[in-house]
Amino acid sequence: FDTGVLAGKTVYITAGPTREPLDPVRYISNHSSGKMGYALAEAAVDAGARVRLISGPVNLPAPARMERVLVETAEDMLEASLEGIDGCDIFIAAAAVADYRPTAVAEHKIKKGAEEIMELHLVKNPDIVATVAGRPDKPFTVGFAAETRDLVDYARGKLERKNLDLVVANDVSAPGIGFNSNENAVTLVSRDSELSLPQTSKRQLASQLIRHIAERYTQTR
Ligand code: C5P
Repeated sequence: FDTGVLAGKTVYITAGPTREPLDPVRYISNHSSGKMGYALAEAAVDAGARVRLISGPVNLPAPARMERVLVETAEDMLEASLEGIDGCDIFIAAAAVADYRPTAVAEHKIKKGAEEIMELHLVKNPDIVATVAGRPDKPFTVGFAAETRDLVDYARGKLERKNLDLVVANDVSAPGIGFNSNENAVTLVSRDSELSLPQTSKRQLASQLIRHIAERYTQTR
């Protein structure tokens, strides 16, 4: 039978970037590798959870022992996140979702013209983690905050604004950690506490994070 701190629990994890098309051959995206989200998914499975990994386009192999849903856009990621959400106990948003998408996707490749300046019109994407955390019977919801200054203040702002239970804050200005690297160092911010986890591999950090998330989840239920 299942053992582990998350035995019998269902965990949804978003990971990687989203890709917002401009035309059939171009898109807007970012440098997220998906490593942190995938490491969290592995750690959650190790802790006994049933995991749905909702992933944008990444260069990582499909992990075993879990369901992976591949998506491209923020809107697709939202749809995959809401599917079966009533059965989700813990939602972890590790994806680097594009804040904006082109207002319209051109049917054909946009041609180069005579103009030197080209204007793009963008519209705000839905906030996935805030949508999940806004639901009446919301899962225990964890967000990430990548900041270059005032880490804890911004993280606490995000916690309140998006109605999250926990924010994993990381300082992306520090060299050798965060985006695309194999290591990370974070501060866990909740309404009434702050806890710093020192720099280590994303794998190590993921199991520490899952342990802390499981502990706090249990305290709230
Ligand atoms: O507001 P900001 O993008 O800094 O918040 C980051 C957190 O919110 C991350 O957990 C990210 O996965 C989540 N997010 C989201 N949907 C968006 C934007 C951010 O789920 N459209």
